[in-house]
Amino acid sequence: MTATPLRFGLVGTGYWARVAHAPAIASVSVSGSGSGSGSGSASASAEGVELAAVWGRDPQAAAALAAAHGASAYQDIPAFLDAVDAVAFAVPPDVQAPIATAAARAGKHLMLEKPVAFSPAEADDLAEAVTRSQVASVVFFTLRFQAAMRSWLAEVTARGGWLGGAGSWFGSSLLESNPFNTPWRREKGALWDLSPHVISLLWAALGPVTAVTADAGPADVSHLVLHHQDGASSTVTVSQSGGQAAAGFEAYVWGVSGRSAAPRLASDPVPPLRTALTELVANVRSGQTEHPCDARFGRDVTRVIAEAQRLIDGRRIGLG
Ligand SMILES: NC(=O)c1ccc[n+]([C@@H]2O[C@H](COP(=O)([O-])OP(=O)(O)OC[C@H]3O[C@@H](n4cnc5c(N)ncnc54)[C@H](OP(=O)(O)O)[C@@H]3O)[C@@H](O)[C@H]2O)c1
Repeated sequence: MTATPLRFGLVGTGYWARVAHAPAIASVSVSGSGSGSGSGSASASAEGVELAAVWGRDPQAAAALAAAHGASAYQDIPAFLDAVDAVAFAVPPDVQAPIATAAARAGKHLMLEKPVAFSPAEADDLAEAVTRSQVASVVFFTLRFQAAMRSWLAEVTARGGWLGGAGSWFGSSLLESNPFNTPWRREKGALWDLSPHVISLLWAALGPVTAVTADAGPADVSHLVLHHQDGASSTVTVSQSGGQAAAGFEAYVWGVSGRSAAPRLASDPVPPLRTALTELVANVRSGQTEHPCDARFGRDVTRVIAEAQRLIDGRRIGLG
């Protein structure tokens, strides 16, 4: 363990920054060498990481969140970047992408949110900056960092032979009272908010996604058919408009030997985010820049979603 703490800066002061990123950074503990596919359990030492800086467009919110964690608040991005070694993001994807690209170019390691961007071009820029600057990066595809989901993925990938899979996530973020009812979710819907999680899970269970077809239902319902490298296919259905009664996540893979269902979602975001941060920091310490959920994987998932959006838009205007 190095004696110098890794200084994290947090971009964003909204609900997710307050309930997930700030508490996870403040409570992360780090040990061991670089990682990315292990159990991700954190050890007891709380040395090594500090929440040093908060940037937000609302000065009062930035000051309040910074004060709650003994950090400094910034309004100026270059000054904020100068004060940190790594940056965590909790802002909309189109706000995250350019700041993250600038941060990577400045040599800062990245704890990113899904989706990494709204456009393949911005996702490409980010992935290229991460690769060129040789910084470590992790995207918080939540399901990939939940302990029970990791056990399930380890079991299904060891067993293999799956012909297909399916995943659905019906959320309620567009309800008036929901803290996730934010402008970009109302505009982009569950395709951009929830499908990244399901795609990232089926990608890990069945192999890299090589092609996608897509269609949409009423409201913001999106249906995707994914084709995986080794021949399996899978389906993804997501919506934020089902209301609370229909809300929930399910996934399974199937083959001649049977069917295996993914475990239920864990509700507390802090333990899996702490795992993601722990792995990011371990990679920074060991000089490892690759992670199964790094910015390049985030770019690949963005490409799948953008293609699905293109197909859905085409069908809506009668081209499909
Ligand atoms: N991995 C997961 O399970 C998970 C769960 C939830 C959220 N997320 C991700 O976390 C991120 C944040 O989500 P969220 O729910 O907090 O809502 P959000 O609307 O994505 O982000 C809210 C924050 O972004 C700021 N912001 C909005 N527009 C901005 C702009 N144009 N310039 C600068 N700052 C801007 C807001 O500032 P103001 O307060 O001033 O408006 C607020 O601090 C998103 O990328 C989302 O996908 C991930």
